[in-house]
Amino acid sequence: MRGFNIGLFGFGTVGQGVYDILKDLNYSKLGTIQKICVKDPVKSRKISKENFVYNKEEILLDEKIDVIIETIDDPEEAFKIVKTALDHKKHVITANKKMLAYHLKELTNIAKTQGVAFLYEASSCGSIPIIRLLDNFYTIDELLYVGGIFNGTTNYILHKIDEENLIFQTALKQAQEKGFAESDPTNDIEGLDSLYKLIIITYHAYGIMLDVKKVPLLGISTLNDIDIKFAKKHHLKIRLVAYSGIKNNQYVAFVLPIFVNKNSPLYHTEYEYNAVVLESRYSSQQFLKGKGAGSYPTASSIIADLQSIANNYKYRNHKESTVNIGTIDFDKDIKFVVYLRKNVLSDNILINWEKRYVLDNQEFGIANVNLKELKKITEEIRKSNGFIALWNDPWNRKNTHLENHIEQVKEVNQIEI
Ligand code: HSE
Repeated sequence: MRGFNIGLFGFGTVGQGVYDILKDLNYSKLGTIQKICVKDPVKSRKISKENFVYNKEEILLDEKIDVIIETIDDPEEAFKIVKTALDHKKHVITANKKMLAYHLKELTNIAKTQGVAFLYEASSCGSIPIIRLLDNFYTIDELLYVGGIFNGTTNYILHKIDEENLIFQTALKQAQEKGFAESDPTNDIEGLDSLYKLIIITYHAYGIMLDVKKVPLLGISTLNDIDIKFAKKHHLKIRLVAYSGIKNNQYVAFVLPIFVNKNSPLYHTEYEYNAVVLESRYSSQQFLKGKGAGSYPTASSIIADLQSIANNYKYRNHKESTVNIGTIDFDKDIKFVVYLRKNVLSDNILINWEKRYVLDNQEFGIANVNLKELKKITEEIRKSNGFIALWNDPWNRKNTHLENHIEQVKEVNQIEI
């Protein structure tokens, strides 16, 4: 193994983690960071100024640098850096999920043409090696679904609300202080960060490149006391999940909150942990859990990518031609049972209630929605500060536990919240 000359972009939570781990490992056989490019020349940092450059060309045009590690926030700037680096035949490791959700295929093609590695394990689910796993397995043994908790910030918030009765804003502030949240946490709490990861994971799972705008999406930014108490009353927890798979013989993808009971592995996924649930035809269900955000867990995936480059590993991206999943239009008549809350006055959408309660101006309860209405309903619900959470567990074919809960709900006429 030879040591790489590394150019690091960004020295925030993840960039510093990469720096610390390489230093801690004292593993110059793997590589040495030659230059670190940052935006702000004035900001005080924990290592001396000589380590930093402020002009990206100083790294991108340096022929001695053979690996770029990109950990900056700005997706447009990250795209320019990564594309230029690949054009200059440098191996690239990136953690930028938004950039990948829009440009993954284009950049993959450039890397292939240039014969260099383009790896991004840290972009999705932090420390869990899910991209590598999907890239290597589940081809002949057909994948039925992959999904789970893909965002550490929202899981931390939901856990803290549930365990410590913290209010949303306090829990979010803690997640920001711990370096889990994006610099603009809107992407976390509105589910977009989970969606970007779902797009990357779906590409490696099925060779399908999903369109950001088409996938039904609701985060947890509109969660309120009624939703929290409704979940507690039924001994359920709320989690934010992303799902990509086949339901009733149709391809389905979404990012939505879900109610889970104590038999679900997601119920026990707490703090900033992420979880991936998947099932293939012969393997049966599998579950992976690990820290999904934070400096060292995320940087550990980058270091693993570096090690892989040293071993000449490249993603195979081979699923495009082998998996035929049919047309993805999300227009099919697939029924979802959901918990739903909306303002009684917002009547842009017709809800097929199974059980409905009213408190102040809010109507809430259990409802049926079709997949083809889900996108529109989630958009309307978000606009009017309502909330939706799946009542059926998408990975449990029989849905027995949650069905029992529906029966319980049907029997209750008055709900105390
Ligand atoms: N903001 C992201 C999260 C960071 O909370 O999961 C890791 O991608």
